Amino acid sequence: MLNWLGMPPAASAHAGEIDQMMVLVHWLMLVLFVGWGAFFPYVLVKFRAGANPKASYTGAHGKFAKSTEVAVAIIEIALLVFYAIPAWATRVKAFPAESEAVVVRVVAHQFAWEMQYPGPDGKFGRTDPKLVTADNNIGIDRTDPNAKDDIVTTNQLMLPVDRPVLVHLSSQDVIHSFGLYDMRVKQDAIPGMSIPVWFIPNRVGEYEIACSQLCGLGHFRMRGFITIQSAADYQKWYDAQQKELQPAPTPTAP
Ligand code: CUA
Repeated sequence: MLNWLGMPPAASAHAGEIDQMMVLVHWLMLVLFVGWGAFFPYVLVKFRAGANPKASYTGAHGKFAKSTEVAVAIIEIALLVFYAIPAWATRVKAFPAESEAVVVRVVAHQFAWEMQYPGPDGKFGRTDPKLVTADNNIGIDRTDPNAKDDIVTTNQLMLPVDRPVLVHLSSQDVIHSFGLYDMRVKQDAIPGMSIPVWFIPNRVGEYEIACSQLCGLGHFRMRGFITIQSAADYQKWYDAQQKELQPAPTPTAP
């Protein structure tokens, strides 16, 4: 519906709400743009030196200017109170219950995204920056019992469709920003903080995670992928990951 605005596909339950607000703001900006654009040449002609040899030191006294200003202020307040604040309040207060949501940790670092799923026990295993190596980017401690069933992936977030997702977002180094344009989600990842982010993906497909905060020389390539699958396909992936985590069976003596 909003293709004319150049918006990316809307792939989350709350995307429509954000887009609607975006449209209203654009309409207001269009009206202001046309208004100011017409006002400028009008002033140039009306107050030209030829018609006004002597400057007026008191200025214009129109009622129109004041009422227009008030009207614009009222529209802006309405946008804030009826659209922006309620939409934001849902994002930061109405979190889904951990029991019904897919809970995942997303850790940003220069220049990739690390995902950690708690596994069937529902508990995130310990991670420690000291354990970070080239093949353990998130620094997971596999000796921790809670970590044994944790799934970790790099630059690939797998999620089921139509189920709330609760992301605990953090960073290992500098400030990054978790940008899911198709989900209308954007949140800074800040070192030392774990910030909850939630949304409900509602369209199966492949989307991108774009780092939306200049975070260093490799910022441009800090790109991840988010795959939204049917519940069954997601479960298949999840089970396959769990299988891989099982310790290899010890060969029995012949
Ligand atoms: Cu991370 Cu830009």
